[in-house]
Amino acid sequence: MENKQNGAKYAEDRRKSKGGWLWWLPVLVFAAIVLTMSVLTILKFVHHLKRSLSPHRPQKVIQKYADALEIAMQFFDVQKSGKLVNNNIAWRGDSGLLDGSQESVDLSKGLYDAGDLIKFGFPMAFTATMLSWGILEYGNQMNALKQLGHAQDSLKWITDYLINAHPSPNVLYIQVGDAKSDHDCWERPETMSEMRPLTQVNASFPGTEVAAETAAAMASASLVFKKINGTYSDQLLVHAQQLFTFADTYRGSYSISLPQVQEYYNSTGYGDELLWAAGWLYYATGDHAYLNYVTELNGQEFANWGSPTWFSWDDKHAGVQLYIVHFNKYFYLLGIC
Ligand SMILES: *[C@@H]1O[C@H](CO)[C@@H](O)[C@H](O)[C@H]1NC(C)=O
Ligand SMILES: *[C@@H]1O[C@H](CO)[C@@H](O)[C@H](O)[C@H]1NC(C)=O
Ligand SMILES: *[C@@H]1O[C@H](CO)[C@@H](O)[C@H](O)[C@H]1NC(C)=O
Repeated sequence: MENKQNGAKYAEDRRKSKGGWLWWLPVLVFAAIVLTMSVLTILKFVHHLKRSLSPHRPQKVIQKYADALEIAMQFFDVQKSGKLVNNNIAWRGDSGLLDGSQESVDLSKGLYDAGDLIKFGFPMAFTATMLSWGILEYGNQMNALKQLGHAQDSLKWITDYLINAHPSPNVLYIQVGDAKSDHDCWERPETMSEMRPLTQVNASFPGTEVAAETAAAMASASLVFKKINGTYSDQLLVHAQQLFTFADTYRGSYSISLPQVQEYYNSTGYGDELLWAAGWLYYATGDHAYLNYVTELNGQEFANWGSPTWFSWDDKHAGVQLYIVHFNKYFYLLGIC
């Protein structure tokens, strides 16, 4: 009797458990479908995010803008000093070959400032930083228009000069030529024969903004050349780091150390250049100490948060504010830092 009862109970339990398992089957299938759909949605989202943040991809070429870029890029060729290589400008030739020779540095390369023949280091370095930024962000489009190599060569023409202008950690040549006598005599660079004076900043006559801007130029260019020539890229990064330390350790405006620069490229302050350089060094090295320098240590003092002004060779606040939020994600997804 007892056995019989036990047998019935056993059968009932089996039925129950079998029914229970069958009940779970659709739940499992449903869960699997939900999981798969969630994963697909997340993947799609990440893909979309990457697309929206990745460097601008070439789209349909609009010829008039392609022509405008090609013509604008010639500006760098026209302004070149030094022994020209693959020169495409019919009316330009070698010039400034002896620049720097009186102090045994080769400052023959680089760009003349405007219609004059002065090499002003502060705006020249800013030009290099902006060209690097342009290449990093729009390099794919330049490539589609066959202008990428041209842009890289123009950048290197400046950074080759900047490397030579920084012969030791705390010395940076910031100008070749005397602006007053240069402006008094209009001549072609090819026929210029006078010995051109050199101006430097150093520990006794500091120039924080010009040293920091030069650091920014070299750090950003090191990103551009990273995959093209690792040796050159590393070389730029060493100079960038030394120049940043020089700029930050010996704080002082070059407009005060060297009042004669006020008439041409007067600086209204160096805080923005320190942040700008530290930011580029962060992207170039991945070292969070540089990011902390911008966001915590000196951000309050120098960043001018909430009060953007125009972005220029003198004032980089707007650039710092933009790239700290924008590039952080952007370079991270590119695997640069
Ligand atoms: C430091 O720079 C100043 C200003 O350019 C210059 O007069 C001075 O000779 C430099 N010092 C040295 C040791 O070269
Ligand atoms: C790479 O850069 C180094 C350092 O400037 C240079 O000596 C070398 O010739 C470069 N290599 C190439 C392939 O351009
Ligand atoms: C250069 O800038 C400083 C700081 O903003 C200013 O005091 C000085 O008057 C300016 N010099 C010239 C010549 O504009």
